[in-house]
Amino acid sequence: MPYPECLFTTPPTCVKGVMVCQNRTCRKQGAARVIAAFQATAIDQVVVLPSGCLGQCGNGPMVRVVPDEVWYARVHPDEVPAVIERHLLGGRPIVAMLYRKFHSRSHANPNHNESGDESR
Ligand code: FES
Repeated sequence: MPYPECLFTTPPTCVKGVMVCQNRTCRKQGAARVIAAFQATAIDQVVVLPSGCLGQCGNGPMVRVVPDEVWYARVHPDEVPAVIERHLLGGRPIVAMLYRKFHSRSHANPNHNESGDESR
């Protein structure tokens, strides 16, 4: 899945892309409400895009943040404001929401706060 073009313009017109899978399995798991929740808030320098299958069916709705390559699994619309606030605006991915297949605890950024405020 290619990165959003806005990352590569000169100068770049975005700094991050949020790709929300809208393929069949993720849609059955509520992906349309997840992307709607992201799109409800304008985030400076961040583009939110629907994506095709991200190859992780059954773990959705899947959300991939690029170029960070942070993947969130089983995202609920109610969790989106926290992703926006902490990750997209604050620069701290939410460890408790990470897709464990790609992000093990040992690989989590040591700067992440895994205390109570990271819970889902
Ligand atoms: S349908 Fe979303 S990852 Fe495959």
